[in-house]
Amino acid sequence: MADTAAGAPLLDVRGLKTYFHTEEGLVRAVDDVSFSVSSSEVLGLVGESGCGKSVTAFSILDLIPVPPGRIEGGEILFRGKDLLKTESHERRRISGNHISMIFQEPMTALNPVMMVGSQITEVLKLHTLLDSHDRWEKAIEMIAKVGISEPRKTAKSYPHELSGGMRQRIMIAMALVCDPDILIADEPTTALDVTIQAQILELIKAMQRETSAAVILITHDLAVIAETVNRVIVMYAGKIVESGDVKTIFTEPKHPYTQGLLKSIPVLGEPGKLLESIKGRVPNLIDLPPGCHFANRCPFARERCFEEHPRLVEVDSDEHEVRCNLYYD
Ligand SMILES: Nc1ncnc2c1ncn2[C@@H]1O[C@H](COP(=O)(O)OP(=O)(O)O)[C@@H](O)[C@H]1O
Ligand code: SF4
Ligand SMILES: [Mg+2]
Repeated sequence: MADTAAGAPLLDVRGLKTYFHTEEGLVRAVDDVSFSVSSSEVLGLVGESGCGKSVTAFSILDLIPVPPGRIEGGEILFRGKDLLKTESHERRRISGNHISMIFQEPMTALNPVMMVGSQITEVLKLHTLLDSHDRWEKAIEMIAKVGISEPRKTAKSYPHELSGGMRQRIMIAMALVCDPDILIADEPTTALDVTIQAQILELIKAMQRETSAAVILITHDLAVIAETVNRVIVMYAGKIVESGDVKTIFTEPKHPYTQGLLKSIPVLGEPGKLLESIKGRVPNLIDLPPGCHFANRCPFARERCFEEHPRLVEVDSDEHEVRCNLYYD
């Protein structure tokens, strides 16, 4: 499961542009986004709702609805091969065998009328040559691995018979059963209460260590990933506004948006909701004004911010990048 060439990233997203052509206008959901992930790395992709996190993930997995969506530019290199230039059946094979995804609400991703064990065996049927007995045994093994105490009994349960946390464990089992190189977890704990949230993150971390898969962990809540990720990318209005290693982002956040996110605190009793410390909301991505997209919410905004769009520049070290004109002339 090593990277293709020494030092080459497993996944390298370059200048990705994913737009939606809607009746209201052009939605630049992901606009010139570049990042890479190495094997065994856990990358956090953070930003409020509507910033383009899921569209980034769906672009990697070829799950963008076309129309209205379209990938308008960029490259998605998996082990050096551009998935955007790969024939669709080959691309699906790569996505299916090497890149798995888990979603926020497992209830919608699981089949309600199928035993969860069978849902895991279906994945194995698609991707392995195991016979039906071995598939079932492998499913049980996987259910045990994700920390469910009565795996044989649970395998015969239907999704509605399980708690939210158990369902998310089953989704993780499904995503990891074929030993993917990359796991994309899109808000995997948002629908869960705080204690279960911590357990699921712990499980993702433990599974990551065991399989050495790369993980892209998507969340709107920066606080939840402090213990889980190595590196953080902060997205705002379709663009990366800051990226750096997790310690730097938490101790020396440079972008006013990241600083605001770090000050947001969870609302008690309402999983997934944050008390707003940043005034206002993410702008409509149609017809964004020319300046900094964060200008109307930024406590440091000045005239220049409304006129020119800030560049992404390196600060401190080449691992830390910020899109804000406070950091260059
Ligand atoms: N199918 C679609 N049609 C039109 N706009 C879409 C579609 N899917 C996503 N978008 C828009 O793309 C932007 C980014 O969405 P998304 O990536 O889901 O945000 P999040 O960061 O919350 O995951 C939003 O403005 C959203 O409205
Ligand atoms: S460029 Fe200006 S408005 Fe944008 S984040 Fe920096 S200071 Fe704030
Ligand atoms: Mg999303």
